[in-house]
Amino acid sequence: MKNEKKNTEFEHFSSLANDWWSKNGKFKILHDIQPIRIKYILEALNKKNLNNTKILDIGCGGGLVSEGLSKIGGTVTGIDFIKENINVAKIHAKKNNLKINYFVKDFEKEKITSKYDVIIVLEVLEHLNTWEEFVRKIKLSLKKNGTLIISTINRNLVSKFLTLDIGENFLKLIPLNTHTFYKFIKPEELEQVLSSNNFENIKFKGLTYDALKLSWKLSENTKINYFCSCKIN
Ligand SMILES: C[S@@+](CC[C@H](N)C(=O)[O-])C[C@H]1O[C@@H](n2cnc3c(N)ncnc32)[C@H](O)[C@@H]1O
Repeated sequence: MKNEKKNTEFEHFSSLANDWWSKNGKFKILHDIQPIRIKYILEALNKKNLNNTKILDIGCGGGLVSEGLSKIGGTVTGIDFIKENINVAKIHAKKNNLKINYFVKDFEKEKITSKYDVIIVLEVLEHLNTWEEFVRKIKLSLKKNGTLIISTINRNLVSKFLTLDIGENFLKLIPLNTHTFYKFIKPEELEQVLSSNNFENIKFKGLTYDALKLSWKLSENTKINYFCSCKIN
């Protein structure tokens, strides 16, 4: 049963692989929020650039965030369990003269031997069957004082309505069947699992849509999409 669900996620993202870099395509929202994500990451790390920072981007997809972080100096490794995603990411990075290490890897199954200053897990946890295990494993790949940065979706009726009913079914801003409500994660659940794995300095920020300015912004409202940053000692 678990494998069936994992295969469904796998097939879903495989079918979308060629659309990663299309700004008005299936991943339009991820392109729209790209500047906010980079801003959040720099703020969470309290840095102006990522020079001398070794970063692992888990579930990197077609490399949107890996490229953003590489452009500001990060030494980036991106992994994804879909070969087509990694192929798209490699070709795009080459075209842009960016040196990023991309590998086809299932983080749940493979051993990661290197240690990183920063691990990025954006829009991935809500697609997993056992995200708690994933978090436990991440800890092993972080250096002392390393930072983990996550973004995911809260689980409540408002997030269900806006993400699934409006975003996927009505406005079709997100490809149909991208999300499953019960896999969404409440910030308090994430906080509890992070704390029990000895992560410290756990902070949350919301990502909200400003309907007046027609743009995304960081906020204190974590009801729908949110970011989380924390450190391991
Ligand atoms: C919604 S996409 C997010 C992509 C990227 N992080 C971003 O936000 O632009 C989720 C990605 O996670 C990948 N993924 C899911 N489970 C994974 C696993 N166990 N190991 C590696 N990649 C995984 C999927 O293939 C997909 O590309």
